[in-house]
Formats: sequence, C-alpha cells, structure tokens
Amino acid sequence: MKYLITGNAGFIGFHVAKTLMARGYAVVGLDNVNDYYDTALKEDRLRALYSAAQQHGVEYEFVRANIADRAALDRCFEKHQFDRVIHLAAQAGVRHSIDHPEDYVESNLVGFSNLLETCRHAATPHLTYASTSSVYGGNTSMPFSEDHGVDHPLQFYAATKRANELMAHSYSHLFRLPTTGLRFFTVYGPWGRPDMALFKFTRLILEGKPIPVFNHGHHSRDFTYIDDIVQGVIQSSDQIATPDASWSGAAPTPCTSNAPYRIFNIGNGNPAQLSDYIDALEEALGKTAIRELLPMQPGDIPDTHADTHRLQQAIGYKPDTSVREGVRKFVEWYRDYYAV
Ligand SMILES: NC(=O)c1ccc[n+]([C@@H]2O[C@H](COP(=O)([O-])OP(=O)(O)OC[C@H]3O[C@@H](n4cnc5c(N)ncnc54)[C@H](O)[C@@H]3O)[C@@H](O)[C@H]2O)c1
Repeated sequence: MKYLITGNAGFIGFHVAKTLMARGYAVVGLDNVNDYYDTALKEDRLRALYSAAQQHGVEYEFVRANIADRAALDRCFEKHQFDRVIHLAAQAGVRHSIDHPEDYVESNLVGFSNLLETCRHAATPHLTYASTSSVYGGNTSMPFSEDHGVDHPLQFYAATKRANELMAHSYSHLFRLPTTGLRFFTVYGPWGRPDMALFKFTRLILEGKPIPVFNHGHHSRDFTYIDDIVQGVIQSSDQIATPDASWSGAAPTPCTSNAPYRIFNIGNGNPAQLSDYIDALEEALGKTAIRELLPMQPGDIPDTHADTHRLQQAIGYKPDTSVREGVRKFVEWYRDYYAV
C-alpha cells in the first residue's frame, strides 16, 4: 500500500504519516511548507519523518509543492500510483480567514479542485479529506450531527471547507471517485499548531504573561487528542466509501449518497469548557495562568460537540484520551522540544 499525504509537514499530516510508516506502509508526503506559522517546526517534523522511515525501513518521499500548482500535482501522480490519498493540506485557521480570504481560495478551493482532478484521472481508489466542525457555523442544536443542515458558515474558512464537501460529491457522483470527508473537532497534542490556543497559552503562561480568554472562558470545545484522530483517519481511509443503498433523493440524507460519498464527524464526543481546559494546562505546567477575560471574537462559534455515532458504527471509532491526559502529553512534548 502506498499513501499520499498532503499537508505532510503540518500537525495532523505529520502524525498520520508517522503512524502509517510505523505500520510498514510506503508514504509520499506533499506540502508547500508555507509560513502561516513557524516553518522551523514544519522542517523539524519532516526531519522526524525521514528518521522514522529509516527506523522502520519503509519508503518515504517528500514533495515540496503547492497543490494550487496543477502541473506539480500531475508530476507527483505520474510518478506514483497511490492506493490511498489522505488530503490534509489546507489553509487552516478561523481568524486568519477574516483578513486573508485569498489564502483560502488558493489552497482550499483551487488546490482542492486540482486534487480532485488528479485523483479522478489517476482513478485513485479512495480520497479521504479534511473538513471541519466549523461547517456547523450558526447551528446551535447539540451535539452536531452529520444529519443536520450546514448552510450557515460563520467565516470564509468554514465556507471553503463546506465547498470541499460539495465539490467532492460532484466527483463521487460523476466519476465514481470514492470520497470520505472528515469534520475534525479542535485537534490538539504534541507537535501541534502554534496558532492554536493550547500552544499560545503554554508559551504565555511559561513567560508569566496574561493569556487572552475569549468569551470569558465560557466556550466549550470538543477537544480531540491527536492519537484518536490518527486512528480515525487511517481506519476511515482503509474502508473505501461506497454508495448508501438506503439513500433517497426524495428525503436526502446530507452525509451519504447514492454515489460513493460520505461525511463523518471525528471528535471526542465529550466537550470541555475552555476554562477547564486551562485548569488542566495549569495543572500540567504546575503554574497558574493570568487570565485576561475578553468578549467573544468575530467569527467564533460558542460551543462545539460532535455526535460521533456514525463513525463509531462505520469503523468502531472510540476516542479514549481525556483532556487532562492529552494536555499533560502536550506539555511534556513542549517542554522537551523547546527545552523549557
Ligand atoms: N487542527 C485542527 O484542530 C483542525 C480542525 C478542523 C480541521 N482541520 C483541518 O485538518 C487539516 C490539517 O490541519 P492541521 O491542524 O494539521 O494544519 P497545519 O496548518 O498544521 O497543516 C496544513 C499543512 O498544509 C500545508 N499547506 C497549506 N496550503 C498548502 C498548499 N497550497 N499546497 C501544499 N501544502 C499546503 C501547510 O504548509 C501545512 O503544513 C487542514 O485541512 C485543516 O483545515 C484541522
């Protein structure tokens, strides 16, 4: 089995690739290593992947390319025949999308369209791609279910990810390209993203500086530990999407189809209040945070909670890392990586 992992220098792409190689699979990683956040961290992840490949004696190739560059993608698909494509490259970040929509057009719309085309022409057996809990936007009915309508994104990031789900459906329908979209719920853990709260809070607390706590800490998030995500991504990718025989156009289920298409939530299913998350961080760091309580930010969703029963039914997905344990592991990694 050979996998293509796009966004391979990123947080989730790094962990997925590492786990696949530990299981003996060949991996081709693709990423443009852009400077949305510290590129040194991305380069370190890539170095760790080369070491992992050596350690496990498996084939690993890294392609430095932009998915918006169609010719570069074509070259990669001409050189390799992929059994699975796991597409994680994207411009992430809710707040960045408010002032930089063009980054999302390039990576999430043009890039995604290119990827669909290359998968179509290469007759890729299964494309699994990242969507987000942010597609639930203005919905307030909890837990968020794949059966709910998701037509009220609160920022452009969510709009582009929702667009990906719709674009995927058209390819699954027209070209019978099997696609699985995974709506990730706030992923955290070692080698995480410096633009996300846990990373920022850890740095500020260790520096003795105040942490900005939006919505006065009343947000709740379905924080999902990276190892639980990796299991879910790999198992979903292993199980090729098929048409849903019970699907009917008269009363269409939004997350399946008569085409080989499906969408799953992938979250912890057990949300925590932001203030409890900070408590867990204080405990792990052995240091009290200075909390600067602030109002809600534009584009933020107050609460997220994943209904994961569909993924559980399909692949037996069962996340089992508590926030306290996950945050402790993150802090362990952070202290070691930054030598603090
Ligand atoms: N981490 C989360 O909590 C979370 C939540 C919901 C959805 N997601 C989605 O999961 C996926 C992975 O997220 P992550 O947290 O690992 O983010 P990340 O930013 O760490 O990884 C994304 C990687 O994609 C690369 N990339 C971006 N645009 C590219 C382009 N045009 N061409 C090639 N490479 C490009 C970046 O350099 C980066 O290394 C993304 O699609 C993201 O939107 C993540």
